[in-house]
Amino acid sequence: MLFASAILFFCSQTDGLAYQGLQLPISANNMKLSTSVVDEFSLGFSDRDKQLIADLNTRYPLGSLTKAFVATTVSELVHEGLLEWDKPVTAYIPELQFTADPALADRLALIDLLSHQTGLERLDTINQLSPAYPLRTKWQYNDWMYALVGEIIERQTTVIRSRIPADATARPYMITDGGEAVRIADVSLLDGTTMSPPGGGVRSSAHDMLIWAKALMAGFRRDPSPLHRVGNVLSGYAITNRSSGFDELYALGLAKVTSPTQFGKMGFNPNLVDVMPLIGQDHPPTSIFYHNGAMPGYNHCLVMIPGQQAAIAVLTNSISQGDIADWVAQIILQAVIGSNRPVDLVPIAEDAAKRWKTRYATMVETLEKGRTPNTEEPPHAALVGHYQHKNTRTTHTLKHYHHDTFCFLPSAEERIQRALFHYTAPTWLLHFEKREETGAVWSIKWKLGNQVTDGEIFKRVSESPSGST
Ligand SMILES: *[C@@H]1O[C@H](CO)[C@@H](O)[C@H](O)[C@H]1NC(C)=O
Repeated sequence: MLFASAILFFCSQTDGLAYQGLQLPISANNMKLSTSVVDEFSLGFSDRDKQLIADLNTRYPLGSLTKAFVATTVSELVHEGLLEWDKPVTAYIPELQFTADPALADRLALIDLLSHQTGLERLDTINQLSPAYPLRTKWQYNDWMYALVGEIIERQTTVIRSRIPADATARPYMITDGGEAVRIADVSLLDGTTMSPPGGGVRSSAHDMLIWAKALMAGFRRDPSPLHRVGNVLSGYAITNRSSGFDELYALGLAKVTSPTQFGKMGFNPNLVDVMPLIGQDHPPTSIFYHNGAMPGYNHCLVMIPGQQAAIAVLTNSISQGDIADWVAQIILQAVIGSNRPVDLVPIAEDAAKRWKTRYATMVETLEKGRTPNTEEPPHAALVGHYQHKNTRTTHTLKHYHHDTFCFLPSAEERIQRALFHYTAPTWLLHFEKREETGAVWSIKWKLGNQVTDGEIFKRVSESPSGST
């Protein structure tokens, strides 16, 4: 963990909650909370080039830790009578319709969007989402649904967007497989071209996240909460992992579990280990909320233990070899709940890092295995053109894969620099689609995930060779 990590439990004597990106309809005045820090720790740089040291007030785009802010905003707006939990979302966005299931939008309520129970595939673009599962049958994480909630909030309220001076925010880094830190491009959160704001755009500091956690947990201390009906946000709605013991639940923007249990399920560590370690086997069952967050250059984890009124916030400005914020939070969690025989997570994290480092080679291997050798490469002149998909603009170098399919897997180094760390092997393939009648190429099809049936279509809008988009 090379960079800027500000961690820890409650902070002292703080006035108000400062965060940017979304405005909760609560005022700083009713958020006066005095808390005490058990321990705090920060490490590394918020900006390596300028040698700025990270501290508890360093701001980070929160990634998916934003989701609980969005859910709480909705809860506040329900309290104010501006939104209703059970109303179809088409009451707020009349034009919403999913091509693959035109009746679905009328059956979706805010609670379905916030608890990831729409059953819609989790693509990274919304226009053609198809149901992967029937409504309310399965928990299926979907950033787009939070973007949709953001749109609903905007339409029902006046959202004030603040611009934050660039210097106030920790710069994003990726750690290469060799352990070197690479500064990557800043993510634009507020320019309307990404879905990030409601899915991941709130910025905050470790210090403020502890105040946030304390406000969320007020009900468990029988304190009046500055947040209205926050119980809505903390109730379990979807079962993310059923078991005969304690089910793992999804509340709104937060995972809700009872130890002994596994953590990190909202992040990418589960893909890097055979099985996530069971935490808290050596003490009485404890109710715990958590969420992970990752976006290019940032990796976070928030854990709340209401019974102890403790919270752990790990915020970092780098994606390293695994979900490091999650491992760190789990280590601290075991100390906080007083595990006598804590699971040693270091060797598990090391194994996960090893697997992380072999991912590129594995992808190359998988792609090679799936390739039909010696197929004819279509003449490039027939393919060159301008292909368009909404506002997305991205440039890649294509290599012939087989038939009319090309591969854009960049070098290992470029993949890290461009923060394309979530793509799996099939995601690197682009298929040129030909019209049956004429044989002319009319689009490029891109399948973003393995559940995707149709894939995203980049329509050819001109044959001019100027930059394929
Ligand atoms: C579900 O929970 C059980 C019990 O903790 C665990 O053994 C199993 O690995 C979990 N499965 C998934 C997919 O998380």
